[in-house]
Amino acid sequence: MFITFEGIEGSGKSTQIRLLADFLKKGSRDSIVTREPGGTEIGTKIRSILLDSVNAKINSLTELLLYEADRAQHVVEIIRPSLEAGKIVLCDRFFDATVVYQGSARGFNLDFIDYLHETILKGLKPDLTFILDCPVAIGLKRAWKRIANSSGKAKEDRFEKETAQFHEKIRQGYLRLARAEPGRFCIIDATQEPSVIHDNIVRIVNEKTLKI
Ligand code: TMP
Repeated sequence: MFITFEGIEGSGKSTQIRLLADFLKKGSRDSIVTREPGGTEIGTKIRSILLDSVNAKINSLTELLLYEADRAQHVVEIIRPSLEAGKIVLCDRFFDATVVYQGSARGFNLDFIDYLHETILKGLKPDLTFILDCPVAIGLKRAWKRIANSSGKAKEDRFEKETAQFHEKIRQGYLRLARAEPGRFCIIDATQEPSVIHDNIVRIVNEKTLKI
């Protein structure tokens, strides 16, 4: 089973993935946690180029193709083999992120993005995608707090430095995707307590597992 988590910066994806992974481990369900960008060794190098704010002048096509390069490696090296081994794959962001960040927000042609995804994914799609939805002001406040608490170690703030309008386009882009494909997406109110969100996610994963 392939489960992805999406949302604006500071929406709490990482916390929820950790909680779900711990829950699955307790129930002896074989799972792995991975992420984009940066789910492989090669991807980790790509991630540092993509997120470091010293690279503010990155060209938007370079940015798009680096996300897709990361994904191409990730799918072949981690996601497909793990799914074939029967594992539950929990992935922090996947192709929907490109559709909204590079498509809805940066304005790339969606047909071009779809073409890249057909080539890279060859039909692979998450069974379930959680969108942790919260107002931009709340998400950005949390994201900057996390960066401040990392005592200067986190240089990964290129996207946090984008305008509030940019982040609003991301939020609305995700909500649009969810409306278009309600069978795969679940929108979760990410302003709730983490334990409440976790209980909700567990209930939905259990329901979905029974159907697959
Ligand atoms: P995160 O791992 O902290 O969520 O950071 C990844 C950043 O990269 C986040 O700002 C969203 C952005 N991103 C894209 O712009 N396109 C993509 O395809 C992916 C996977 C992430």
